[in-house]
Amino acid sequence: MPGVGAVASTLIAGVMAARKGSVAPIGSLSQMGRIQVDPTDPGSDTPLIREFLPIASLDNLVFGGWDPISANALEAAQVANVLDGPDLATISAELEAVVAMDAVFDQRWVSRLEGVRVKDLPSKWDQALALIDDIERFRTENECDRLVMVWCGSTEAFQEPSEVHESVAAFETGLKENDPNISPSQIYAYAALQSNVPYANGAPNLSVDIPAMVELAQTRGVPICGKDFKTGQTLMKTLIAPGLKSRMLGLRGWYSTNILGNRDGEVLDAPENFKTKEQSKLGVLGSIFEPDQNPELYGNIDHVVRINYYPPRGDNKEGWDAIDIFGWLGYPMQIKVDFLCRDSILAAPLVLDLALFMDLAGRCGASGVQDWLSFYFKAPQFDHDRIEHDLFVQERMLHDQLRRFAAQ
Ligand SMILES: NC(=O)c1ccc[n+]([C@@H]2O[C@H](COP(=O)([O-])OP(=O)(O)OC[C@H]3O[C@@H](n4cnc5c(N)ncnc54)[C@H](O)[C@@H]3O)[C@@H](O)[C@H]2O)c1
Repeated sequence: MPGVGAVASTLIAGVMAARKGSVAPIGSLSQMGRIQVDPTDPGSDTPLIREFLPIASLDNLVFGGWDPISANALEAAQVANVLDGPDLATISAELEAVVAMDAVFDQRWVSRLEGVRVKDLPSKWDQALALIDDIERFRTENECDRLVMVWCGSTEAFQEPSEVHESVAAFETGLKENDPNISPSQIYAYAALQSNVPYANGAPNLSVDIPAMVELAQTRGVPICGKDFKTGQTLMKTLIAPGLKSRMLGLRGWYSTNILGNRDGEVLDAPENFKTKEQSKLGVLGSIFEPDQNPELYGNIDHVVRINYYPPRGDNKEGWDAIDIFGWLGYPMQIKVDFLCRDSILAAPLVLDLALFMDLAGRCGASGVQDWLSFYFKAPQFDHDRIEHDLFVQERMLHDQLRRFAAQ
């Protein structure tokens, strides 16, 4: 994992605790979810997904990562303050052993962070080669059969794709010429794909959502997916919106605001980083409500998203939604949602599922964009224009693909 912060350390701690049998891996579909073997027959078997398919077992996982600040997963967990001391105490030695490698980091992309554990290599090409070396060293030292990379690093500053992102050839020239439009997350993605390692992007920055990485994933036969874990407010949004639509209730506006006090909140307090997140969060309503098909119900929606950095709350985000709907004869009504959630507690099982499903996909010969994993993302990457945000449709896509893998 590039980024050994709150999410990564909470994931690692949870897997270690689950291995000891002290907790269940709650929130993880790959561990606790079931699947209907024959979707056309409601009476057919519903085995656990991990028994239906050869998903790698938790006992066989090893973790590693890069970070410009955290020294190891224990320090990251203590700083993030997501888990209580007694929960960390039993696994502290194991967490401390997950030592972060020096990062490819550039403060231009994350202005609020001062990186100290950073590779001292000015050329982006050399940085990519150094990451490829790190990957191979990790593979050998830990005797891994396979690897998966999941970006758990900070959200990078907003960027539009540019010429250097158009093809692998342009990207490689850009690496050698230190093109300023190549961000650190893209260098990690390039290193992963060149090492035949599937790559999932948990943040909203472009990373693999550029033509060069799609091309590289296809030519090397490696799966990619992204972007931005769908955890708190957007999860709620994509649960509620399909329900309103299915009842043909109108929507006039949806105002979403959050207070968040962790390092992620601090990074997102910078306008250029918030813009990346805002774009990702704003996209979901259009494809669910399809205003073109129902202009009288959904043709005039004000959708606003705000994130406010508020240190006292730490990782315990509060997300408010004020939803203005209308019904019979156009009479207005309001729904208020106040979700007191825990960001990393919601995100950790998603990282686990993504790692295990991407590994499975790789073994099943899947390559390029894995849109059936859109279930996990706020701004899912598709290789066509029709983007699906409805959580229940996304769940069906995921189950359909798992059944296809099982049938291979
Ligand atoms: N927790 C959630 O619910 C959630 C939901 C969606 C997306 N995300 C995204 O997941 C990411 C991780 O969230 P978090 O709460 O763990 O944040 P965090 O700030 O605790 O951890 C991110 C870590 O990434 C490191 N980092 C920054 N640039 C890096 C680089 N170039 N290489 C390697 N490491 C780098 C930082 O030093 C930090 O330790 C963020 O981008 C966040 O926006 C989180």
